[in-house]
Amino acid sequence: MRVAMIGTGYVGLVSGTCFSDFGHDVTCVDMDVSKIERLKAGIMPIFEPGLDELVARNVAGGRLRFTTDLAEAVAEAEVVFIAVGTPSRRGDGHADLSYVHAAAREIARAANGFTVVVTKSTVPVGTGADLEHIIREATPEADIAVVSNPEFLREGAAIEDFKRPDRIVVGTDDPRAREVMKALYRPLSLNAAPLLFTERANAELIKYASNAFLAMKITFINELADLCEKVGGDVQEVARGIGLDRRIGPKFLHAGPGYGGSCFPKDTLALTRTAQEAGTPIRLIETVATVNETRKAAMGRKVLEALSVPPRGATVAVLGLTFKPNTDDMRDSPAINIIQSLVDRGVKIRAYDPVGMEEARKVLPDAVMYATGPYECAEGADCLVIVTEWDAFRALDLDRLKAQLRTPVTRRIR
Ligand SMILES: NC(=O)c1ccc[n+]([C@@H]2O[C@H](COP(=O)([O-])OP(=O)(O)OC[C@H]3O[C@@H](n4cnc5c(N)ncnc54)[C@H](O)[C@@H]3O)[C@@H](O)[C@H]2O)c1
Repeated sequence: MRVAMIGTGYVGLVSGTCFSDFGHDVTCVDMDVSKIERLKAGIMPIFEPGLDELVARNVAGGRLRFTTDLAEAVAEAEVVFIAVGTPSRRGDGHADLSYVHAAAREIARAANGFTVVVTKSTVPVGTGADLEHIIREATPEADIAVVSNPEFLREGAAIEDFKRPDRIVVGTDDPRAREVMKALYRPLSLNAAPLLFTERANAELIKYASNAFLAMKITFINELADLCEKVGGDVQEVARGIGLDRRIGPKFLHAGPGYGGSCFPKDTLALTRTAQEAGTPIRLIETVATVNETRKAAMGRKVLEALSVPPRGATVAVLGLTFKPNTDDMRDSPAINIIQSLVDRGVKIRAYDPVGMEEARKVLPDAVMYATGPYECAEGADCLVIVTEWDAFRALDLDRLKAQLRTPVTRRIR
């Protein structure tokens, strides 16, 4: 099956590559010329374990290619995915749909024969209907069906998640589109992935509801961690005790510095805006978003409190910068808030991350120094903070680390 993937970011690149690995003929399109040039040269724009080999294998097999020519890719495709960004709109927190709308207009002009247009981008309920309208307005004779097929992959485990998903959600009531989507995902059905066909609006809602629920779980355990700290409990033990209940499950019950990343912050906000506008506010998720922001801000204060020397002129070593391990994604990483609040108080920062330092340099204050490894990072520091739970930090020699510090302080902050 011939597939065009519009937007070759995290989602577009991973899903396009995986579709090609299943034998489909995929063209990944992006308007970022340098990204496409680098991909053609075999250079990955993101760090995702296993992605470079998978891309190389499928490019060599002639099933995967990269281009900036959207019109040509769309004209040849039976299925066109929209996988462009939907960031928070400045000012009101709604999903900014300008990239999605622009892509739809370009697709409308280029589509040739019956074409299934699939939104993989996370978009608010009703967007599929709007896209149908946009496409019909641009090209009244276009023979298209607009389908919602939200993506649930996790950065850092994206290939495995795409190939062995818990479920594939497809929102459409068009019988022809349904057959096309079935054929497209047939290779995954052999992996026993449940294919859930539903109305388009339901599919759009399922994505936001899933992310909001997971964000809520994280926030719940984070608040419980604060309680444990005050009353003398161990939140890890409490989480284990809760998670063994199959109705609850153990996942997303790890207390930490607050959720970040490219999805949860913007998606929780967008869902609350949609609900407010519909006159049915989801107060639970509004609170989750507020509590999470407060937590990120509080983490810097906790580090300052733990320091045994005055902040001005002190050095804090920070291990882990990305919003989670196995990615170089710095979008909305809690490390940004923590480091900024320390820098604001005159603290010097020396940081280390196994793969995220190049991205980190783009968003962290210029004054941050970067180390070549965890022990170098700790050298002469007054405090060491582990922000991201990279595997590489799990078996550090704590005695050696302590010996590197100028004024070692041992305190557990959650
Ligand atoms: N990152 C994740 O883990 C994840 C998971 C599930 C869903 N999503 C959703 O998927 C969507 C994409 O997220 P992402 O992280 O891959 O974004 P991204 O910012 O990494 O990539 C988006 C890409 O689209 C390109 N683009 C924008 N407009 C274009 C156009 N008209 N033509 C061609 N290319 C265009 C941009 O240049 C960019 O390379 C978002 O809606 C996001 O919420 C992301």
